[in-house]
Amino acid sequence: MKKIVQFVVVIVVGLMISCTTTVKTTETFDSGKQLAYCVEKTKATMGTLSSADSLPRNILQGQKEWNKVGIHDWCSGFWPGVLWYAYEASGDSAILQNAQKFTEPLTGVLDVPVDNHDLGFMLYCSFGNGYRLTKDSAYHDFLLTAADSLATLYNPKVGTILSWPAMREKMGWPHNTIIDNMINLELLFWASKNGGSHELYDMAVKHAETCMTTLVRPDYSIYHVAVFDTVDGHFIKGVTHQGYSDGSMWARGQGWGIYGYTLCYRETGKEEFLTMAEKLADHFLERLPEDGMPYWDFDDPAIPNSPKDASAAAVAASGMLELSTYVKDEKLKTKYKGAAVALLAKLSSDGYLSGDKNQSFLLHSTGHHPNGSEIDASIIYADYYYLEALLRLKKFYQE
Ligand code: GLY
Repeated sequence: MKKIVQFVVVIVVGLMISCTTTVKTTETFDSGKQLAYCVEKTKATMGTLSSADSLPRNILQGQKEWNKVGIHDWCSGFWPGVLWYAYEASGDSAILQNAQKFTEPLTGVLDVPVDNHDLGFMLYCSFGNGYRLTKDSAYHDFLLTAADSLATLYNPKVGTILSWPAMREKMGWPHNTIIDNMINLELLFWASKNGGSHELYDMAVKHAETCMTTLVRPDYSIYHVAVFDTVDGHFIKGVTHQGYSDGSMWARGQGWGIYGYTLCYRETGKEEFLTMAEKLADHFLERLPEDGMPYWDFDDPAIPNSPKDASAAAVAASGMLELSTYVKDEKLKTKYKGAAVALLAKLSSDGYLSGDKNQSFLLHSTGHHPNGSEIDASIIYADYYYLEALLRLKKFYQE
């Protein structure tokens, strides 16, 4: 971990990303330095937290410290996840103790009826990483129960998990599935290979297949929400919830798609998922603004006077790093790795690193713009995927 590795990446983005422009970008990126920064900031935050069931979620403009949420918030698993990754990066036993301490209260997530798809975010980022790093059998058993709970939301008629039960009535969306839900498939895949039912694997595959032809538009941009009929399961319409409009490209949603189809390829070996991940990544890269950082929605008419979303960049970077390891063509490998490193370099620049401005790693994420919440803020999942991407860069490429 202490070893500082210099990545000198010459990225020829132009011809590979767009047929119309040639952009040459030279980035010098020191991933070891950024990992050390994340570990130090994690330790500093650790020292300020007293209650293990009060978990960092966001830091708004003008604030310096994390606002906390309880275990039932969809973001509850990211702080334990950050701790597990910081432990993985450092081997620090105090961080390990904190990772265990902040993971434990999340067992309470399953004490109430399952009311959304977010179980994967909440429990796989926490217990999933915990099990991967410690092989604690209690984590293993809890994850199997969590996967079975998530599976109760699966509708075989539609072929997807119901993401938001509450929105059936509130929005008149009889069965709804959001692109974010792709990430939660990882819990089902894991369970199917670690003692759970094979049906969990089949559900995850069917979910991903159904979303390819409904949530993904013909131009490879993605709707946030797909609405389905519950009687015959047909796709009714694509709409947005957190994006600018039903037809717009919500930045983090595109990131979830890239990341999600890449993990589906990892878990299944199905070429159609790999191809889908490439197309989604290509579309994201083609539409990135010149400064290399996505606005919260690529189609917000207020651009360039519109907030950015560092979390979308972090999710896309982590997804594209993994994608770069699966594509066979060397030029494509270079393309996706180069694009991911360029995003990480941008996130690691003065404008996006929080430094001593607040407790987070990163500034300038946007949570729910239409709601007016978490706009241009530090958000815990941006930190989680940023740290994950740094670790992936080390694991995949720092031989
Ligand atoms: N609903 C998860 C997200 O904001 O990306």
